[in-house]
Amino acid sequence: MKAWVQERFGTREAPVLREISEPQAGPGEVVIEVEAFAVNPVDWKILDKTAVARAMGLKVPRVPCMDVAGTVVELGDRGSDRLRTGDSVVVKLPVKQAGGAAQFVRTQADRVLLRPESVSAEQGAGLLLAGTTAYQALATHGRLRVGSGQRVLVIGASGGVGHLAVQMAKTWEAHVSGVCSTANVAFARSLGADEVFDHTLSTPSDWGTFDVVLDCVGLGWLGLRHAVALGGRYVTINPKGVDIVAHAATGLLGQANVRAMMLQDRVEDFQQVLDMAAHGELRVHVAASLPMDDLPEAWKRSQEGRTVGKLLVWPRR
Ligand SMILES: NC(=O)c1ccc[n+]([C@@H]2O[C@H](COP(=O)([O-])OP(=O)(O)OC[C@H]3O[C@@H](n4cnc5c(N)ncnc54)[C@H](OP(=O)(O)O)[C@@H]3O)[C@@H](O)[C@H]2O)c1
Repeated sequence: MKAWVQERFGTREAPVLREISEPQAGPGEVVIEVEAFAVNPVDWKILDKTAVARAMGLKVPRVPCMDVAGTVVELGDRGSDRLRTGDSVVVKLPVKQAGGAAQFVRTQADRVLLRPESVSAEQGAGLLLAGTTAYQALATHGRLRVGSGQRVLVIGASGGVGHLAVQMAKTWEAHVSGVCSTANVAFARSLGADEVFDHTLSTPSDWGTFDVVLDCVGLGWLGLRHAVALGGRYVTINPKGVDIVAHAATGLLGQANVRAMMLQDRVEDFQQVLDMAAHGELRVHVAASLPMDDLPEAWKRSQEGRTVGKLLVWPRR
């Protein structure tokens, strides 16, 4: 089968297209024929720092990408009592194995979700990594309460995580402010944001104070601490050293109002996000849908840091 392969640590270069053997399902596993997969920033960042990548247990050669929509084509022994061959599914693959940038991928059956008819393969492929990051940032770390009318600021409101976070916070009846550049102000408003700040025309001191500040860009706690209301929380998905220190320090003091978070693979959270999409509460905006051979283009566009919504690649096109 065709697969994109990362062959070296210490680089952000695009993977290379290789012909490799098709995976086979082991006990408790399934093989999925990949219909579409998303390229997320983590896919090209993850091998960059060799020591960190090795400490995470990553190995090369490695097939990257973790967000997949596809069809179950094989079940291993003890495969699953939920899944059958031919089922349409979505999965967020584990960071260690990844493997989505290929025509087929093997993974544990118990992390695979049935894709409801109301969620297309395109929607499903772009949803889980970014959507569940937004979910855990707002609900788990931000402690955003449904129906409380809390004030939320999403910095990076037009990006993969941010555009889903805006929609999620609106569904939960928060008052939502977004931050993006001039070109994306109308897009952020179309997601439901109550107000949008243009970062090319304003600074954090112009934005006000909020119960939850979700920083998808990595502006950092020091520059945003005044934007967090008393008792509120700053949540960063792109932490710098000082954010990690502040996270630990405020945790020790029992305040925990600075949260430097990493997405946790919790199947129940993936399911919540998929259910929201099935109910029409989340809609993935697709920045580009590219054929398999154009993965390097998705890599390049993701690295430019200006993606509006999600970048998808289709292995059968
Ligand atoms: N911790 C975790 O578990 C976790 C999970 C997922 C992602 N992440 C990280 O979180 C970051 C965001 O991920 P993503 O998938 O949302 O990335 P993305 O889709 O590449 O985000 C691109 C967006 O960032 C916006 N942006 C860039 N500079 C900005 C600024 N100064 N102010 C406001 N918006 C700005 C751009 O909007 P404009 O062009 O309008 O400025 C663009 O729409 C990445 O660094 C990713 O690696 C971490």
